[in-house]
Amino acid sequence: MARIPDAFIDDLLARTDLVEVIGTRVPLKKQGKEYSARCPFHDERSPSFTVSPTKQFYHCFGCGAHGTAISFLMNYDRLEFLDAVDELAKRAGMEVPRDTRQRNEDGDTRDIYAALEVAAKFFHKQLAGSDKARHYLDGRVVDAETRERFMIGYAPDGYSALKDALGTDERRMKLLDRAGLLSKSDNGRVYDKFRDRVMFPIHDRRGRVIAFGGRVLDPEDSPKYLNSPETALFHKGRELYGLWQVRQANSKIERLIVVEGYMDVVALFQHGVTQAVATLGTATTPDHAELLFRNAPDVYFCFDGDAAGRRAATRAMESVLPRMKDGRQAFFLFLPDGEDPDTLVRHEGAAGFDARLQRAMPLSEFFFTELSADVNLGTLDGKARLAERAKPMLAQIPDGAFGDLMQQRLTELTGVGARSSPAQTHVPVQRVQRTSAATPPKRSLVRSAIALLLQQPSLGAEIAPPYPFASLEQPGVDLLVEMLELIGQRPDISTGVLLEQFVDREESSALQKLASQSIPGNEAGWRAELVGAIGQLNAQSLQRRREQLQARMSELSDAEKHELRALLSSRNG
Ligand code: UTP
Ligand code: MN
Repeated sequence: MARIPDAFIDDLLARTDLVEVIGTRVPLKKQGKEYSARCPFHDERSPSFTVSPTKQFYHCFGCGAHGTAISFLMNYDRLEFLDAVDELAKRAGMEVPRDTRQRNEDGDTRDIYAALEVAAKFFHKQLAGSDKARHYLDGRVVDAETRERFMIGYAPDGYSALKDALGTDERRMKLLDRAGLLSKSDNGRVYDKFRDRVMFPIHDRRGRVIAFGGRVLDPEDSPKYLNSPETALFHKGRELYGLWQVRQANSKIERLIVVEGYMDVVALFQHGVTQAVATLGTATTPDHAELLFRNAPDVYFCFDGDAAGRRAATRAMESVLPRMKDGRQAFFLFLPDGEDPDTLVRHEGAAGFDARLQRAMPLSEFFFTELSADVNLGTLDGKARLAERAKPMLAQIPDGAFGDLMQQRLTELTGVGARSSPAQTHVPVQRVQRTSAATPPKRSLVRSAIALLLQQPSLGAEIAPPYPFASLEQPGVDLLVEMLELIGQRPDISTGVLLEQFVDREESSALQKLASQSIPGNEAGWRAELVGAIGQLNAQSLQRRREQLQARMSELSDAEKHELRALLSSRNG
């Protein structure tokens, strides 16, 4: 992974007009110093999405979406980090610094992409020339348009069709090998990995071929499907077959349907269900879950109705729980015996398949059904067991209404975790109370210092270490120290980037809220306020130290006595 220097990112964002980047994609309305819009990341009637040009960040009060120009492009245009950086750099006329090693690797990977592309074209062309392969696809009723859309191909029988066509010299052979297209026998002979198979190219998010799945024609042959090995470009736990095609077919992806097989995706598309993707012969990983939700708010998982299907669904559930931010929904659809999405959509059509999706089980229901499958909720022991199982899993759900509701449901089922507060039935009220309890008390010095740093990070550059107040045991002190240290290293950091450093933290949403408030006054006033707050905090910490030492007066070491004298005189002075 290329590591781009922080200073470059800071500079890039400073030279980027966030309002322009967002404004070309979402209609913005100016309101005072900020801009507002209806949030592009969730459905809403009245605008709660704000863009602050001075703080260089956007924030939605409704769904909590937030970030910098980089994260906006990642989420809105669905770019990878490096691609988003490239895009902004291009606009700003800057060159992205990469070290030479990285540049060489880039050159190499480009060649592997090219080899895979050429191989896909080769297979695709072979399909036209093979009666056998065409008959197979005819038999499975895959129409011409679908064959093109998925660039389905055929790897000829024999051991060297691809090798002979593309491996014309040593360097090319090496590329085919690194692309995962060759196998080697025990005696060192190199030959085509895919032979006499229908070939399904796997595309990455940008439409580049990165791997293949190959299906046998003859039901007697095995394995039924052969996939490319893991290569520099292909990690099967991170890719979804069909995602590229979904993106091509939908300008806004409302939902994604996760199925098991290549042919399931292909058949669904052919019948007009153009939001289907498949995991590649693996369980749903947390990376998959992230990728799915980054592309669509609603995700439907389809599994066989048998025991293996339930197990696969449980794995999927474990992978999605930590990704269930508000606004996201997951559903589970279990298919009738002997059917897969391919056969089902052929029997029932898109409308029939959609109707099944409508009736799919929400994650919440699957969660409690699955976890209590073998416990008797009529007994105390059963309730305890369910609570014990559910708690660590619920703890993984990000803060928000969904987590609260799941918690509440657990309480209903088991009585465990009940709070005596009368607000309990009012989830929103409960949430407000909880957040305010987690943030430092109003007008605390730590809180105002943090708020001021978020207002204008450069103010922090003037507060040099050491930070005597760091020893105070008050909420937020550690965070304040971290922020000051970060600003010390990156004095040009923007509010947006600063917030980004704390996204994984418990305090993140409180920070977002603080950052989106605007503090009255001007820079000089803020600076004075910050210096004052830090000064008072330092005084508090010295005071505490003094008290500690005075309390142990009789047993102080010489050094401590010395320290105490200094502390006392500093107070008087
Ligand atoms: P299935 O065995 O359910 O096959 O495998 P399928 O998708 O219904 O295939 P068709 O309809 O007979 O052509 C489901 C998925 O599991 C992976 C493949 O990704 C396949 O699409 N798989 C299956 C393998 O990777 N290797 C295998 O040998 C079998
Ligand atoms: Mn099938």
